[in-house]
Amino acid sequence: MFKLITLPYTFDALEPFIDTHTLGLHYHKHLQNYLNNLNKIINEYPYLNNISLIDLAYNVDTIPNNIKDNLRFNLGGVINHNLYFNNISPIKQEPTGKLLSKINETFGSYDNFMQLFKKTALNLKGSGYTFLVINNDNKLQIINLPNQETPYYYHLTPLITLDMWEHAFYINYENKKDLYIDNFFNIINFNEANKYFNQN
Ligand SMILES: [Fe+2]
Repeated sequence: MFKLITLPYTFDALEPFIDTHTLGLHYHKHLQNYLNNLNKIINEYPYLNNISLIDLAYNVDTIPNNIKDNLRFNLGGVINHNLYFNNISPIKQEPTGKLLSKINETFGSYDNFMQLFKKTALNLKGSGYTFLVINNDNKLQIINLPNQETPYYYHLTPLITLDMWEHAFYINYENKKDLYIDNFFNIINFNEANKYFNQN
């Protein structure tokens, strides 16, 4: 059985960028729902127990077809939300050290990176996520994935995760996706991103 992650901040801590109501719903209803669905599958197929979320994602192609789609969607839903919630912080941060060097090397500057990340997120059609990942060539790459597809399914390592499902922003931002993305840059937990980066 997988457990609900504990948030390292209170529901009102990300105001005004993420409103209290949205964050509470997102965590208690949306993430909880993905977790419940995932645990239901795990209970029915006990051999999937005792595998970490990430290992399960890396091996998703070996899962029997009768449960693969359902598992893929709900496992991705849990992993992506865990990434997103751990990737935001009430304290404004910017990239430093190795991550900053790599961002500068790849995108020219942090400003360029932000512009490209925003443009990519705005290009996402329908529900999904925008990620900064390390790809198989050990390069930084900004990608969109639809629905609850997670970078681990493609053996990519996520560093930054932005939830672009409407449930993540619509109550506060309505159709102003661009403002939601602009404000995301005020709450990215780069310490966490640096940690991911330095592990690779
Ligand atoms: Fe979400």
